[in-house]
Amino acid sequence: MLTLGVNIDHVATIRQARRTVEPEPVAAATLAELAGADGITVHLREDRRHIQDRDVQLLRQTVRTHLNLEMAATDEMTEIALAVQPDYATIVPERREEVTTEGGLNLLSDLDRYRRVVDRLQGAGIPVSWFIDAEAGQIAAAAKTGAQFVELHTGRYAEAKGEAERDRQLAVLCQGCNHALDLGLRINAGHGLTYWNVYPVARLPGMEELNIGHSIISRAVLVGLERAVREMKQAMHGALGNL
Ligand code: PXP
Repeated sequence: MLTLGVNIDHVATIRQARRTVEPEPVAAATLAELAGADGITVHLREDRRHIQDRDVQLLRQTVRTHLNLEMAATDEMTEIALAVQPDYATIVPERREEVTTEGGLNLLSDLDRYRRVVDRLQGAGIPVSWFIDAEAGQIAAAAKTGAQFVELHTGRYAEAKGEAERDRQLAVLCQGCNHALDLGLRINAGHGLTYWNVYPVARLPGMEELNIGHSIISRAVLVGLERAVREMKQAMHGALGNL
């Protein structure tokens, strides 16, 4: 069954705007779970601009669904993941100057190193998911690393201008899903998904989990987190009706 991973990084972004103690990401995770989130996702960035180490440690103790740790493929983050033991780790590219994760990882740039990261994490019982574009070469490389999952980057689909381009990007994602399934990979997706564009992605072949942050937290500011999470689950299942 298709599941929703709620990315709560933006909750920490608000807290860090004042370097204070609120809003508390742990409380947000609990509320999201009570509203039907199937998992909680956080990205511990190298620059610690939003989520902090203590958040990850506390979430590990409090999350009752599953915890997905987004991380760069660095030694520091690998050590943290091994210590925290998230339920799975999604490995993302990271550049200090970017506003958010801007594109998928290029696995072909350093396949041997990426394979070693998978060996370390999966050897310790932490399934690895590569955040990649839905390109044949990247999907084949993901399978070669031995990782269990890919997370297909949905940014190009989300940002497509016009219906024809949107359909084209959806077809690219669909082809990527079929390729990944053929290679025995499990499939998640995320980035830029909203209440209005999520439904076609939710119906892609083999789709297991959608990781969604910005749209849910933005809506939560206006209507509350529990309602925002509930309504995203309804949108995923095509049962939203009039917003
Ligand atoms: N998946 C990954 C790997 C991401 O890096 C992000 C952004 O942090 C998301 C999903 C969520 O994207 P958005 O905030 O646009 O929903």
